[in-house]
Amino acid sequence: MCGIIGYTGGAWALPVLVEGLRTLEYRGYDSAGVALMDTDDGSPVVRVAKHSGKLANLEEALRERPLPGSTGLGHTRWATHGVPNDRNAHPHTDDSGRLALVHNGIIENYTQLREELSDRGHGFRSDTDTEVVACLVADRYRGELAAAVREAMCRVRGAFAIAAVHADEPGTIVACRREAPLVIGCMDGASLLASDVAGLVAHTRDVEALLDDQVATLTPNGVTVTDLGGAPAQGHRYRVDWDVDAAEKQGYPHFMLKEIHEQPQAVRDTLIGRTDADGRLVLDELRCDPDELRHVDKVYVVACGTSYHAGLVAKYAIEHWAGVPVEAEIASEFRYRDPILSSHTLVVTISQSGETADTLAAASHARDQQARVVAVTNVVGSSLAREADAVVYTRAGPEIAVASTKAFTTQIVALDVLALYLAQARRALFPDECRDHLARMEALPALLEQVLKQEGELAELAAGSFADAGYVMFVGRHVGLPIALEGALKLKEISYVHAEGFPAGEMKHGPIALIDAGGPVVALATRGHVHGKLLSNIQEVKARGAVVLAVATEGDTAIDAHADHVVYVPEVHELLYPLLTVVPLQLLGYHMAVRLDRDVDQPRNLAKTVTVE
Ligand code: G6P
Repeated sequence: MCGIIGYTGGAWALPVLVEGLRTLEYRGYDSAGVALMDTDDGSPVVRVAKHSGKLANLEEALRERPLPGSTGLGHTRWATHGVPNDRNAHPHTDDSGRLALVHNGIIENYTQLREELSDRGHGFRSDTDTEVVACLVADRYRGELAAAVREAMCRVRGAFAIAAVHADEPGTIVACRREAPLVIGCMDGASLLASDVAGLVAHTRDVEALLDDQVATLTPNGVTVTDLGGAPAQGHRYRVDWDVDAAEKQGYPHFMLKEIHEQPQAVRDTLIGRTDADGRLVLDELRCDPDELRHVDKVYVVACGTSYHAGLVAKYAIEHWAGVPVEAEIASEFRYRDPILSSHTLVVTISQSGETADTLAAASHARDQQARVVAVTNVVGSSLAREADAVVYTRAGPEIAVASTKAFTTQIVALDVLALYLAQARRALFPDECRDHLARMEALPALLEQVLKQEGELAELAAGSFADAGYVMFVGRHVGLPIALEGALKLKEISYVHAEGFPAGEMKHGPIALIDAGGPVVALATRGHVHGKLLSNIQEVKARGAVVLAVATEGDTAIDAHADHVVYVPEVHELLYPLLTVVPLQLLGYHMAVRLDRDVDQPRNLAKTVTVE
């Protein structure tokens, strides 16, 4: 993870860097720092300011002692090597202090490099792998920073995005990436780089994503890109289709709440343009031959975190509509076993950011085994979008809160569309059946608006029956199960209240032992073919003293006899319930976290984009 920003141009760099870091802080907030190029008595120097903790600490220090200069780097850290303190904060400098470098990723051979560099007389002040890279680049420096970076990065193993400045080359920033994101943008008289387009959109929407092992040299006059051998190269150029307002809170107290409320629009946007004039499903981005899809005999859905839960939901839709067996798997497990893959296997990788290291590695593992890889991602031009054979984009807009909400619902929508497309290609459904399902999905935004209206009741619950909960259990069956898992994940990640999701039928095989009087249980109890079974499971926990909140279908008055509290969602096709039932759980988690005075958008120990394994 970690966020990198760089600016070189005619204006003061510091405000641009700090503003950029603010937009990238979701990537990590263990420390923040900047390096500015300036002159001291006419001699060029690099000055560094860095602080452990959130960006606000650095900002305070910079208010007292601002750093001048019109070229600089900024960094916000999620610690991997070395505890989060001032010493380990980036930027790191070489022994001379003339070179400063920021880094996102992990250098796998840093111990070996550190020993080699120590033998050559370099000293180290931090516990980080990054300082080793700073020294390595300085060691190879012979008057041309880009050449030194190229030479150094040939020696480095691991995943990284780095950016460096050297006092002997005022106005120049050199950057390089391998398996970690880095985008560059140019304006009149200035060039910028960032880990994510969110850091650039305030300045330009025309961006270029560097590809693996490319080196970019930024000056106020423009950018040149080469490969590691120095030959001219070009990254992936594209135009960002959202503007800077989309990455602002717009009056909401937290990004998470804003993003929960953006779900109706995000779902609507994700469904736009999915049919042709004859009403047949089209997936323009899915550069897959329908013939190939017809021969798919196995689907793997692979992802991490909340995206994995979207994959679990998709399993039900793909198996039911397209009639293909599906296994949903956590990306960090998938590639370390021996999944049986062939050219008839479709591997659907899901990632909001498109940069999650484990998901990327799973995609590349699957491609190596000849499987067709489809990416479902929210970020155009992301590494996953490039790694995959085909892409289906969610159109959620930028998601800033660490806890994922609108990305989740749009992922389910995109996956449902993919399931229907597969069903169409394989003739598992009649065209009018596909159209009917799509029409049902098109009704969802209005239904989501209705569910959101119950926010007040969920806030009351968070302050009432759930206020002092030491743990919360979430139970569900069928498509309710992934939502139970997601509800528990939402709650624990932002409120730090212990929460677990279980298949309701499994409670009696162990988890029910945890229930004591007043213990809160959230049950996904919408109508469907397992409704009756679920009601029995609710009885079992109620008999042990649990306080039950049921998420039920509107009009289901019988549920009142089973549950202490009920929130209702409108009636929909059974497979579409997850899109509605997750919303009350997001709101419950949010309000419990606010009540506990947690840092909702930046929960402890977490980061939005996990670019390390
Ligand atoms: C982190 C985030 C989660 C996200 C997961 C996968 O853990 O905090 O919200 O679900 O990464 O991220 P991705 O970008 O691959 O969907």
